[in-house]
Amino acid sequence: MTVTTPTKVFADRIGRIEVSATMAVAAEAAKLRAQGVNLVDFGAGEPHFPTPRHIKDAAIAAIDANFTRYTVVPGIPDVRKAIVERHATDFGSDYGLNEAIFTTGGKLALFNTIQVLVDHGDEVILPVPYWVSFKDIIQYAGGKVVFLETSEAESFRITADAIEKAITPRTKAIILNSPSNPAGSVVSAEDLERIVHLAHERGIYLLLDECYVYLNYAGKPVSGGSYTWAKEHIVVLGSLSKTYAMTGWRAGFALASKSVVANLSKLQSQSTSNATSFVQKAAIAALTSSQECVSEFRAEFIDLRDYMLARLAEIPNITCTKPEGAFYVYPNISAYLGKGGIKTATEMATRLLHEAHVVAVPGEAFGTREHIRISYPVTKQNIDEGTRRMKEFLTKLV
Ligand SMILES: Cc1ncc(COP(=O)(O)O)c(C=O)c1O
Repeated sequence: MTVTTPTKVFADRIGRIEVSATMAVAAEAAKLRAQGVNLVDFGAGEPHFPTPRHIKDAAIAAIDANFTRYTVVPGIPDVRKAIVERHATDFGSDYGLNEAIFTTGGKLALFNTIQVLVDHGDEVILPVPYWVSFKDIIQYAGGKVVFLETSEAESFRITADAIEKAITPRTKAIILNSPSNPAGSVVSAEDLERIVHLAHERGIYLLLDECYVYLNYAGKPVSGGSYTWAKEHIVVLGSLSKTYAMTGWRAGFALASKSVVANLSKLQSQSTSNATSFVQKAAIAALTSSQECVSEFRAEFIDLRDYMLARLAEIPNITCTKPEGAFYVYPNISAYLGKGGIKTATEMATRLLHEAHVVAVPGEAFGTREHIRISYPVTKQNIDEGTRRMKEFLTKLV
């Protein structure tokens, strides 16, 4: 009998992705913190507020009532009702209960959607700069990422014209994340409508990552999900993480046509099964109670954005677009590249971490080379201290 030795251990698909850069930065920062280093953390992509009391209470009550067993895979009807009604009230969409699925975080909704729709060789259009995970999730599925460059001079704006030029016969999907992580750019309502038309008419799926949809500072939040006539080709990817300060709870969802949701549910049935039962109850409380906390968070983020931009403006030769949403700024640090032996944004982030004790994520993680991402949900004292350290570090570089 011949015994064959496997030539490789790990599947090709795991080799196609990297550890999420934001998570890698967080791990490096945690190591330094454990050594007693006092860091100013502009790395974390999460609100600094605690989860509102009424949401926590709903989870505690659910646990006390022993709501701790398996539920149906796409989430109990009440959580799906809460999701579709919230979206209908805020954006005029008309999803039914079997067009909604509750997931263990918005990232999983995205991951599963790509798995369900994208085959080997399919092209997915991804505007740059992009949130780190989009690229890897597409590659994991075997898809080909078609990077769509945007212009910093135009605040990284994504236009329908640019999307149209990037479409080929192999385009399977387009990802839009508005407001975006990392640059906070917003797709205008006019462009969004034209993109929905383009996608629908050509049978291309439009994946709308609405993680920051309520953190739109440019005007009234809009959702592509409100174009009900194009439902067949639209997948709304939602998250409670940023809207309700619930990052650790892992609560997200997808809204899409029945057939897409049925396939998402099929995949979920063979992986995580239902998202945590009592988190579903917390999500119902978040989505159906007063939305005052959302407006309060939003107002505070606008104030912090302006404060952060003002402090950054005090650092010579740093330029920064004004984000119209989300809670990051994406300053251009190119004036400092080539100084002090720092050649890349990654080297800049590493030196800032180890020498200035400021945590930031390098632009390479988002597809650009001359930026770092700074997350501003921190106290104003931390903004003062972090930007002071950055200024001191950068202005000493020769
Ligand atoms: C653009 C974008 N989409 C999705 C997510 C995922 O959010 P979650 O999985 O916490 O719901 C994030 C988190 O940082 C994000 O920035």
